[in-house]
Amino acid sequence: MKIFHPKSALCAITWTVLSVVACLAAPAKLEVDLSHLGPLIPASFYGLMTEEINYSYDGGLFAELIRNRTFQDPAAGQYGRIAKPPIGAVPPHWSVIGAALAETNKIDPVNPALPLNLRLTLSGGAGGVANNGYWGIPVRPGARYTASFYARGVGGFAGPVTAALVTDDGDRSVAKAETAPLSGVWKKYILTFTTPSDVLPTAAARFVLSANGTGSIDFSLVSLFPPTYKDVPNGLRPDIMKLLADMHPAFIRLPGGNYVEGIRFADRFSWKKMIGPADQRPGHQGCWSYRSSDGFGLPEYLLWCKQLGAEPVLALFAGYTLNGDYAAAGSPELDLYTKEALEEIEYVTGPANSEWGRRRAADGFPEPFRLKYVEIGNEDFFDRSGSYEGRFANMAKAIRKKYPQLKIIATTPVTVAKPDLIDDHIYATAGTMIREGTRYDPGSGHPEGRKTNGIKVFMGEWATQGGSPTPNLMSALGDAVFVMGLERNADDVVMQCYAPLFANVNAEDQAKGHPRGWQWNTNLIGYDSLHVFGSPSYHVLAVFGQNKGDVVVPVRLDAPHLPAIGDPDPHGRVGVGSYGTQVEYSDFVVTNPDGRKLSTDNLTKDAGQWQFCQGGWSLGGGILRPLGDGSQTWALTGDLGWTNYTITLRARKLAGDEGFILLWHAVDGDNYRWWNLGGWGNTVSRCEVSENGGREPYGEGAPFSVETGRWYDLKLEVNGHAARGYVDGKLVMAENDEPRQPTATAFASASYVNASGELIVKFVNTAATPLETEIHLRGASEIGAGKAIVITGPPSAINSISQPENVAPKEEPFTNAAAVFDRTFAPYSVTLLRFPAKK
Ligand code: AHR
Repeated sequence: MKIFHPKSALCAITWTVLSVVACLAAPAKLEVDLSHLGPLIPASFYGLMTEEINYSYDGGLFAELIRNRTFQDPAAGQYGRIAKPPIGAVPPHWSVIGAALAETNKIDPVNPALPLNLRLTLSGGAGGVANNGYWGIPVRPGARYTASFYARGVGGFAGPVTAALVTDDGDRSVAKAETAPLSGVWKKYILTFTTPSDVLPTAAARFVLSANGTGSIDFSLVSLFPPTYKDVPNGLRPDIMKLLADMHPAFIRLPGGNYVEGIRFADRFSWKKMIGPADQRPGHQGCWSYRSSDGFGLPEYLLWCKQLGAEPVLALFAGYTLNGDYAAAGSPELDLYTKEALEEIEYVTGPANSEWGRRRAADGFPEPFRLKYVEIGNEDFFDRSGSYEGRFANMAKAIRKKYPQLKIIATTPVTVAKPDLIDDHIYATAGTMIREGTRYDPGSGHPEGRKTNGIKVFMGEWATQGGSPTPNLMSALGDAVFVMGLERNADDVVMQCYAPLFANVNAEDQAKGHPRGWQWNTNLIGYDSLHVFGSPSYHVLAVFGQNKGDVVVPVRLDAPHLPAIGDPDPHGRVGVGSYGTQVEYSDFVVTNPDGRKLSTDNLTKDAGQWQFCQGGWSLGGGILRPLGDGSQTWALTGDLGWTNYTITLRARKLAGDEGFILLWHAVDGDNYRWWNLGGWGNTVSRCEVSENGGREPYGEGAPFSVETGRWYDLKLEVNGHAARGYVDGKLVMAENDEPRQPTATAFASASYVNASGELIVKFVNTAATPLETEIHLRGASEIGAGKAIVITGPPSAINSISQPENVAPKEEPFTNAAAVFDRTFAPYSVTLLRFPAKK
């Protein structure tokens, strides 16, 4: 046994259910006290948060393979108000095959929900239309596909239509089927075909509808499904569902997130347009830059819950949209949304003979769903009008009257009515998330109001930011520490879910009209059309979900301190950036505090001085500008050793959503500070810090909008942690990025499984060195051998399509459990020990 170093008197801490920081060198000491149990951990604790973001359903969980199946998608890059489908043209993601023409029309459509037809006009030979899917149509060996579409012959066409899977490589048809001859009236055709068992898996393939002869064919609602999870028609992707089932989620928070709100009222989650057969769903413009087919609508959310054995946590549209519009309390509009919310609850929970329960039964779910929680709105702290108080009160009153058994979640504290829970959100860097592990510990300074008056917490969105499109190992450590902190306070934090859940990780493919697959940087699970992988954070949450205890066991951990997270002596390069905005920068000069130039006269005259991150830039005529629409890209220059300096430059916005970005203390493209001038949709001036690719704001921020077309004189003074920003000579920003408070290198928590009589100990070592730890089990008897699960790797390690298991849990027997035992925890690791122990 190693020698135990007693804790220094200065760091004296009381015996508590908390994971505690102390200040000793290794070895560490962990005490686990089975004689005094902490709070119960509710069955509802581990859940999923979901919305249509990053192609979560279309191009993700929803197994539909045809992109733009009703031809209503706008042309690439069109968004918001200007998003209109092209009429009289080939729609996005479709192309023409052979000697034929194709264009959309509005002539006598199948029904008003499907307003556009795609007309294929043949010229005497073979011709067709092809769909390139969500970054390609996946072809797998021995797989049965089901295609369906409406079709009618026009101008005398009365032949059959062939549906085929065709690979890009060699233009090879690998599976196909043919309809009966068409007539001149709309008819729905359903065809099935199976790929040969020796075909190589590929996503470089298209779905082709073709015919031979003269005349035209109108198509509507073209659909193609591969095998789905549990073979349910119109169902979900089996590979993604397998990962989700392995998380053992108790609930799914749906449908958002921003997605429930929409940018405008017309774009809200209007659930009545997302039920019934596919041909009754018009689709709508989502808030994450692309149109949603709504093939994945309310019944599909319920199917998802049912297949995972999870309960819905139903987020209700509450009369506020992302553009700031709202329906005030007492207005006819809010009354309508309240009525829709009550009807939505009836759709989910009502008996099959109620009005909306009948509609659910018709959609395939005769049994009502269990529903305990509803959430009124999403992130209404963004509603600066203050209308949430009234909107919440109105809706909560109506819901309580009709459904008194439901628990109601508010999205921000309210005073005029009392919610049962408040939904708390946090996205931050690993350093911050580790510190936030104490967010709900008694005495941590968190608003007590949430813990008193019986108001519980729903941690409805949280995630360590770092790693894109999926988190790296360091983020997974942050996530582990954070969720252990929530679990230890499970009497207050009764449910939690990481966000966002999914990301389609395909890169932009301009030639084929595919944008980048993800809009949010750090997401739990990644996939393309053929593969799926769990990130390191996914593995942490899956291991924790599979090993949920029933009750918290108090621990005390004495572990070494980190000197500080954050740099005591910040330094680095400088630069400019663009965030979805076309900007120009010129006359970029860096000087010493004494006025001497650190850089050459004008860095924007010398292309050789710049390094570009995440995208291309052009430099000519003294102007530096991002290429394309300037999605999210930055340009760095200068010296890594620079600490105190002043940058002056000129800047002009040409087009786009935001404004200017100035970087300093940039070590590389993932670690920097920046001044975001016109961030958050060109509304705010604010500083942000990025650590390992995870970015979070700091300081207060102030309202600021950049005018398009006007040149601005900008100045940034940097002095160690302090930064001051000037616009046209006027001070606009003055912030200090102080070194963060010291924190421990290691964190622990424990819980007990009543049914099996097992103790679960979770341990996170965030240091670069192994940590020898002496573990004492108090009040435990009959201690036996169990298992250890370890997740570890370099802090920047990620999983990806090509390396899906680069970071993965390793399970091993754990045989030396005893009243006192030693264990060395690997550098950068999460370890879970599970073994029998009688309390
Ligand atoms: O999880 C991504 C987004 O973050 C959610 O839509 C929104 O609620 C939050 O701002």
